[in-house]
Amino acid sequence: MTHLLVSLVFVVLVGTFSSSFISAYHLLSKPLLRDDGRIYVCSQDNFFAFESNGTIAWTMHLDYKCNLGTAPVHGGHGKIYLVVDNRILVISYGNIATSEPESKVFFGPGPGRVAEAEIIGLSVSTLGSTIYINVKNRGLFAYHSHGRLIWSVGPVLYQFGYRQGCRKNLTDCYFASVPVLDQCEGSIYISNTEGELYCLSVRSRYFRWIQDFSSLDKNFTITPGNNGHLFVTFPAKALVLALDVFSGNVLWQRSIGPLSKVDSAPVVDSNGWISIGSLDGFLYSFSPTGVLKKFSRMNAENSMIQVGPFLDCSGFAIYSSQIEMEGKVSRTIGEYTVVSAIRPKAALFTVLVPATGSIYWSESYPGHVSTLFSESDLSQFVMNEEILLAFLAASRIGTPLQCRTIGQKLASSCSQERTKLVSIYTGNERAIVLFLLFESALLLVLIGLVRFCCTFWAKEKLKDQGLGSFLDKRCSLRLKKKALDRTITELEQKVAEETVDNEVFEKLGDIVRERECIERKLSTTYSLGRDRTHSRPKSVLPVQMGKAKSYSFQDAKQKNVTMFNTLSDTSSGEISSEGETNKETYSG
Ligand SMILES: *[C@@H]1O[C@H](CO)[C@@H](O)[C@H](O)[C@H]1NC(C)=O
Ligand SMILES: *[C@@H]1O[C@H](CO)[C@@H](O)[C@H](O)[C@H]1NC(C)=O
Ligand SMILES: *[C@@H]1O[C@H](CO)[C@@H](O)[C@H](O)[C@H]1NC(C)=O
Repeated sequence: MTHLLVSLVFVVLVGTFSSSFISAYHLLSKPLLRDDGRIYVCSQDNFFAFESNGTIAWTMHLDYKCNLGTAPVHGGHGKIYLVVDNRILVISYGNIATSEPESKVFFGPGPGRVAEAEIIGLSVSTLGSTIYINVKNRGLFAYHSHGRLIWSVGPVLYQFGYRQGCRKNLTDCYFASVPVLDQCEGSIYISNTEGELYCLSVRSRYFRWIQDFSSLDKNFTITPGNNGHLFVTFPAKALVLALDVFSGNVLWQRSIGPLSKVDSAPVVDSNGWISIGSLDGFLYSFSPTGVLKKFSRMNAENSMIQVGPFLDCSGFAIYSSQIEMEGKVSRTIGEYTVVSAIRPKAALFTVLVPATGSIYWSESYPGHVSTLFSESDLSQFVMNEEILLAFLAASRIGTPLQCRTIGQKLASSCSQERTKLVSIYTGNERAIVLFLLFESALLLVLIGLVRFCCTFWAKEKLKDQGLGSFLDKRCSLRLKKKALDRTITELEQKVAEETVDNEVFEKLGDIVRERECIERKLSTTYSLGRDRTHSRPKSVLPVQMGKAKSYSFQDAKQKNVTMFNTLSDTSSGEISSEGETNKETYSG
């Protein structure tokens, strides 16, 4: 790592293009662009669906004041989720032709009651069946769209006997970012206050990997590529990292220009390129392998890009805006780059495809763009750069590319990752298929034989051993598992309802571990015969000694953590002995 840039933005003027009577106009929240070409925003206590030409399609009154800083979230068929006043509202507008759109509280107390828990962010699965909510100090909750809690997890888990998460400091450690979904992998990414990035399975309370970035910075933005890559942007360090989604390993790391801290959300297009605008006036685009292309349509010296690009609905092109300032000064003070600017003079809007470098359209403001929405309902609101860019993207101005649905885009981007794996086989396809079929058939026959033998011998053995005591044992294990299940449900309920500290999560972790252990014992059918064998003393077994030595620990400073956990059965012992070996590997 060489020298790092830190941007401190003293004065960043948001380009406000409305006339001088701004106080009469209302501010709009961050927008949500949907496949249907509409734009969803809220303002004060109203929710709006705009047509891309600026006409209001429908509007709805909310009982709460909305949060301008967070965009509404797409929630599957005819649904939108909105964070207001520490609650989550679900707005249903699916059958707008037959009924009025309606809103109800999905998470948090109803009207008139104070919401105590702070909602940091939420994500919704593609089909809208599951909603993942990060509640400050309480953890991450997965809810079914009908409202049933599926699972919850805190930042600390005990898996295979090791503490995972918040390794350096357990005090005040909590999930600090919006949960981000990787639709191809079925993973959730989330960071905690200690600068650790987690990869979780969407299905259960289980960490796939954890990366510790605290040595770089604790504040970063997570952007899924949905193509086998995950991107992490460090605004304060002006760095972009690409990670491998399977292991969490850093594939490449690139410096960019200083970023505005407020809004540094990059976008990943369908070619797998990641693009982000910088205060140095350039749009930075990186290919999946980390090759940089810089774009600037006007003199970069006097301009800046401060709102993230928007993806056009084909997924290939992006809409970007560059603002020309009357004056801009960049100074480097030690490690920090300080960008100060005064008064926006003009803006330039551009549609381009980063992968090819083709520019389809470019127009400046003031100019033709200024008159586009001047007669529409949109003119009653404060038009800032971000809103204007969103409407240009939604109206698909200047792009010849075909629109694609979310499903089509995901299918192609997810397959980019798979073709990498599959392209290794470039032989005669027919021969390979035949060979695979033959091999599968052979395997099936073998499996059948082995099963038959095992069952046969197990039965033979059972005949002369105490079947009764074995069954008793299983029965008691089952009862114990049931009791644990009950405790887990109770604890989860508790976690969902009130603020708890990490101790409860620890306790929960312990119990879940105990249950897993029992489940494992219950599923060990082939040790039936060993149930009552007179066990040899463990310590004399050389195998055991060898295994114990394979634990390896290294300095906690290592930034890259991968965990492998292998199960293997011990060569002796009662049915109740835990045959488990853990191996932890740290790689730098
Ligand atoms: C805007 O678009 C909608 C639907 O596409 C259409 O009904 C309406 O007439 C348009 N308004 C203007 C001012 O063009
Ligand atoms: C852990 O975090 C708390 C709160 O952020 C802080 O007060 C404490 O000093 C930290 N401990 C260590 C060892 O860094
Ligand atoms: C991270 O960013 C937030 C909001 O911008 C800020 O309040 C917080 O202090 C930052 N944390 C660190 C460790 O820099």
